[in-house]
Amino acid sequence: MKRLTEFGQLEDPSFSAAVIDWQKSHGRHALPWQNTRDAYRIWLSEIMLQQTQVAAVLAYYARFLERFPTLHDLAAAPSEEVMAQWSGLGYYTRARNLHACAKRVVDEYGGLFPSDPALLADLPGIGRSTAAAISAFSNGTRAAILDGNVKRVFARVFGIDEFPGVKAVEDGLWRRAQALLPQDGIESYTQGLMDLGATLCTRSKPDCPRCPLRERCVAHATGRTAELPVRKPKKTIPEKQAALLVVIEGGQVLLEQRAQSGIWGGLMSLPEVDGHAVRGALGIDAVAPVGSAFGEVEEVSALLPLVHVFTHYRLHIAPFQVALSRRAHLGAPYLWWDLARIDSAPLPAPVKKLLLELCAPSLF
Ligand code: ADE
Repeated sequence: MKRLTEFGQLEDPSFSAAVIDWQKSHGRHALPWQNTRDAYRIWLSEIMLQQTQVAAVLAYYARFLERFPTLHDLAAAPSEEVMAQWSGLGYYTRARNLHACAKRVVDEYGGLFPSDPALLADLPGIGRSTAAAISAFSNGTRAAILDGNVKRVFARVFGIDEFPGVKAVEDGLWRRAQALLPQDGIESYTQGLMDLGATLCTRSKPDCPRCPLRERCVAHATGRTAELPVRKPKKTIPEKQAALLVVIEGGQVLLEQRAQSGIWGGLMSLPEVDGHAVRGALGIDAVAPVGSAFGEVEEVSALLPLVHVFTHYRLHIAPFQVALSRRAHLGAPYLWWDLARIDSAPLPAPVKKLLLELCAPSLF
């Protein structure tokens, strides 16, 4: 007997069949985290792929597994090493949660990830969609994913003209995602949705002629692929200023361990001075007294400013180089780091870039 879903449509296995057939013939099959049922490798890939594209993840994934070949290696590693391996990939809460998750799976599950998506979703850094993906890929569990790419595919195919970030709209999407699951072939279906979102049903310029869902797609039929999904109502993001001090003495640079929470939490960075005091031409005069907390200041010079965009604000960074003739005695959270080894420091990407550029002419 055919049944109506809550969306007023006949239960329609042809949706998942179209995705599965397309995945088998046109989807991605040779990504490094595919063709395995190893939950550690699958989990690591899914965490790295949250908010980050495949191309950016590949090198990090390979290096990470070389350094931490098993879950036990990761759980036992010092957090600075985990952060250093993650350095440059961004969204560092993921790295802290990854480490916490590894420890919990070792302590609570004897080193084996649970197969139940509800138990997975209780672990740090694993939301409902990631739990479903890990469970589908490592155990063949029939569970629904709904990441940003899948939301876009659904919003277009079903012509959902409300912002998917609204709770009630998202709840509806989850129910659809659940209702559309195939009886068999969850791995190809899950990968197929991800592949469609990443390769054809892209945010701009979707490749509709090649899409297996084209004939059932409301956005395609009504010429609204550019409008769907509905965008978040725009808020202007605040601008903040900070000065970073590149304090150098004897081939070493002064780093500061940042607090666990807040931006770049758990990473090291350069000592920071509140922005307002150091803007404009007065910058150097304002920096010199701050620099003297770290030793005898020989020279201060302004470096080229840079801008870094975070989710919630834009940070204008004014870097100043402070040369010391003598160091003060400094304890935690400060630490001197060899400039020649700066590449291995757990630093945020823009700070590392700044230091690498600074040392490039003289040291390498
Ligand atoms: N994005 C999230 N998970 C993914 C996966 N398993 N393969 C490719 N892209 C992804």
